[in-house]
Amino acid sequence: MKLLVTGGAGFIGSNFVHYWFKNHPKDLIVNLDKLTYAGNLENLKSIEENPNYSFIHGDICDSQIVDRAMQGIDIVVHFAAESHVDRSIIDPSEFVKTNVLGTQILLDAALKHKVKRFHHISTDEVYGSLKLEDTSKFNERTNYDPRSPYSASKAGSDYLVKAYYYTYGLPVTISNCSNNFGPYQFPEKLISLAITNLLENKKVPVYGDGLYVRDWLYVEDHCRAIDLILQKGKIGQTYCIGGLTEDLNNISILKKIIKLLGKSEESLEYVKDRPGHDRRYALDWSKIKNELGWQPLHNFDEWLEKTVGWYKENRQWWKNVRNGEYQTYYEKQYGTR
Ligand code: NAD
Ligand code: DAU
Repeated sequence: MKLLVTGGAGFIGSNFVHYWFKNHPKDLIVNLDKLTYAGNLENLKSIEENPNYSFIHGDICDSQIVDRAMQGIDIVVHFAAESHVDRSIIDPSEFVKTNVLGTQILLDAALKHKVKRFHHISTDEVYGSLKLEDTSKFNERTNYDPRSPYSASKAGSDYLVKAYYYTYGLPVTISNCSNNFGPYQFPEKLISLAITNLLENKKVPVYGDGLYVRDWLYVEDHCRAIDLILQKGKIGQTYCIGGLTEDLNNISILKKIIKLLGKSEESLEYVKDRPGHDRRYALDWSKIKNELGWQPLHNFDEWLEKTVGWYKENRQWWKNVRNGEYQTYYEKQYGTR
């Protein structure tokens, strides 16, 4: 089997490449990545000499490069995207280009090259925002209601994937997953930012009242879910992938991280809220559990401890990342604290 992984140098994409070679060592992987600020070939250092792996440095919006990358491909796993909500609020334009136009260019090439499967990685954010006092959850039948430029661009890409299935018969599957955490996450997202700030004895910025709720999914559990969808998922179907069964707010997570690192709760610093901040995400992942037999391997606390351990042991990885462009972004987003 030959896979085209887009965005394979990013957080989830690189974890997926490692996961895939561990579990399907005979398969071939082509990784197409533009290496934006979030793409990092250090994530793939240990497999770069693997003869079954090749890397193409390119943009999914470039139809010539995409056409070349698509030669002989059986399965596309499409991760490449601009992925950070706060950056989409600062400048939505790259989000529309990569997430919407880039996806359409990939879909065209996948159709032309008659791939056997196009799997699109989407997000639970396309479903909008739930109320804190609510007990309902998003599921595969929930109407789309994206509220940030990021989630609007992901919704646009999801609609295009569905359109290529209905209109042209492209064999697609889609997964809408919740907030991932784990190794190699760019330290702009809540958990990776909190751990790395605390390891540098810096404060952790908490947006608004800190009572916002997300569902949390360990990245390796996510990769296993994608594998199952590729093996057993039904063409044209969407699968929601989440990790929790009960709500957990941002403050509770940050207090867990603080405890694991032996720091003080005075490290928390309440800062101005994110504009249009979605209050609560909760995901019903019973479809993938009942139909494909997937569930997370461990609970949140165990995965969180393992994740904190990874950042403690891989200081050089995140220290290299937290310079240059990162500092400029950090100061723009949080000021010079
Ligand atoms: P990331 O930001 O860590 O990595 C994105 C990767 O895509 C980078 O390697 C980057 O260089 C590459 N890329 C960006 N624009 C590109 C372009 N035009 N052409 C080629 N490559 C390009 O993202 P992530 O957190 O790993 O997310 C991967 C996917 O999963 C995204 O589609 C995201 O929307 C989705 N998702 C992420 C999460 C999460 O919690 N991280 C949750 C749900 C869904
Ligand atoms: O739900 C899936 C989505 O999860 C993915 O589609 C996105 O790619 C991914 O970035 C993530 O989006 P969120 O906006 O939920 O993640 P983020 O880590 O940015 O924020 C998580 C929560 O923490 C949210 O309520 C905002 C809050 N937060 C975040 C940061 C970066 C803070 O309080 N302080 C911060 O500094």
